[in-house]
Amino acid sequence: MNEKNNRGKFASKIGVILASAGSAVGLGNIWRFPTETGENGGAAFILLYICCILLLGLPVMISEFLIGRRTHADASAAFEILAPKHHQWHWVGRIGLLAGIMIFSFYSVVAGWTLNYAVQAGLNRFNQMVSTDGSNVYSSYFNSFVSDPLMPTLCLVFFILLTHYVVARGIEKGIERFSKIMMPTLFLLLLLLAGFAMTTEGAAEGLNFLFRPDFSKINSSVVLSAMGQAFFSLSIGIGCLCTYASYFRKEVNLARTAGSVALIDTFVAIISGIIIFPAVYSVAGMEPSEGPSLVFVALPNIFHIIFSDYPVLAYVLPFLFYFLLVLASLTSTISMHELITAYFHESHHMSRKKATYMVTAICLVLGTLCSLSLGVGSSYTIAGMTLFDFFDYLTAKWMLPIGGLFIVIFTGWYLDRKILWEELTNNGSLRFFGFHIFLFVLKYVAPLGIFMIFLDQLGVF
Ligand code: PHE
Repeated sequence: MNEKNNRGKFASKIGVILASAGSAVGLGNIWRFPTETGENGGAAFILLYICCILLLGLPVMISEFLIGRRTHADASAAFEILAPKHHQWHWVGRIGLLAGIMIFSFYSVVAGWTLNYAVQAGLNRFNQMVSTDGSNVYSSYFNSFVSDPLMPTLCLVFFILLTHYVVARGIEKGIERFSKIMMPTLFLLLLLLAGFAMTTEGAAEGLNFLFRPDFSKINSSVVLSAMGQAFFSLSIGIGCLCTYASYFRKEVNLARTAGSVALIDTFVAIISGIIIFPAVYSVAGMEPSEGPSLVFVALPNIFHIIFSDYPVLAYVLPFLFYFLLVLASLTSTISMHELITAYFHESHHMSRKKATYMVTAICLVLGTLCSLSLGVGSSYTIAGMTLFDFFDYLTAKWMLPIGGLFIVIFTGWYLDRKILWEELTNNGSLRFFGFHIFLFVLKYVAPLGIFMIFLDQLGVF
């Protein structure tokens, strides 16, 4: 049997959607989205973000899906197969890999924090913390935890090893089975928490911040942030979803899958906002623009406030929340790990086991450096940013959208239209309404949109 037939495959349609949505839904929605929304002024940012999802993100996602499923190859080889005479294209895949390594490294740091928070919640520590000097206990706890050299690093290592374990088990047994259980549970819990958040005293102000746009807050950096957040949250621009699609069967409806993933992803982000901003406005002294600590400070506070009369809920819900956050992060890091592992395994003919170990080792080193850069190493900066912030900034705001730009140019301008049609209609067996509109968005709207946002950021307009 040749290599192609030997590759793993997702077994069911729902498994395909949940695994892709598992890649998309993660800290990007529950941690990064509220942070960016808070720093960029609220509702106006969210509107821009939704426009970026629809006009820029969806075409990129559909393109990744069709490139991956057409070739059944890793993200870099996929471009080689589709553009055998123009080798430059596979750089799109390779740069994506580099971005994948960088994202995996800084993302695992935050995932490690969630792991620690799950353990602390499991030990009922948050309910026992008391402030001795009148300062916010959860804020002091967070700051001292992340700047500690040892604990966050240990959590990060543990988290990366967890990712390693699932990826090593392969496609169907590991990734698919896992996503099927975790995703629905996460939705239910988020809805439940959103309901509770509505009962807090900051609910009205929080919703106002989220849904009443103030367009005077929009400037070029807000637009770039919205685009970066859309790409980061959808896991697009680096070939992750292209790699996942290489395990799709021929019956999968690519456009509908992309639509479902984008919908689920946006829904989870907005629900997270509905949980977090009411919480922020219910805690004295907290501001939406708090930055990366937002989720880790506002939430324990609010759990404490809402459930102070119900000790069982005060114990169970925070634990469940952080535990699910760990799982949601895991389904995302698995997709990053898989992107790079598939590349080493297939393009460099390395055994899958060896490739998995290599990726884990690289990310352990880089992840540790990112983690230390928030504490003992904070004086070492690149362009004024810690390594952690620099990786986040460079990947989300630049590498992902640039990758996405080349991907839509590839499918819109380079690839034979017949291939697009065959993949989007499964060789004519599905209807694809609005194919010409889609082509127009793919060829003109998406590439020009991304390009203009960059020009705007560089001060050209
Ligand atoms: N989309 C993921 C999240 O929201 C993060 C991610 C980015 C995953 C890029 C894969 C690739 O958490």
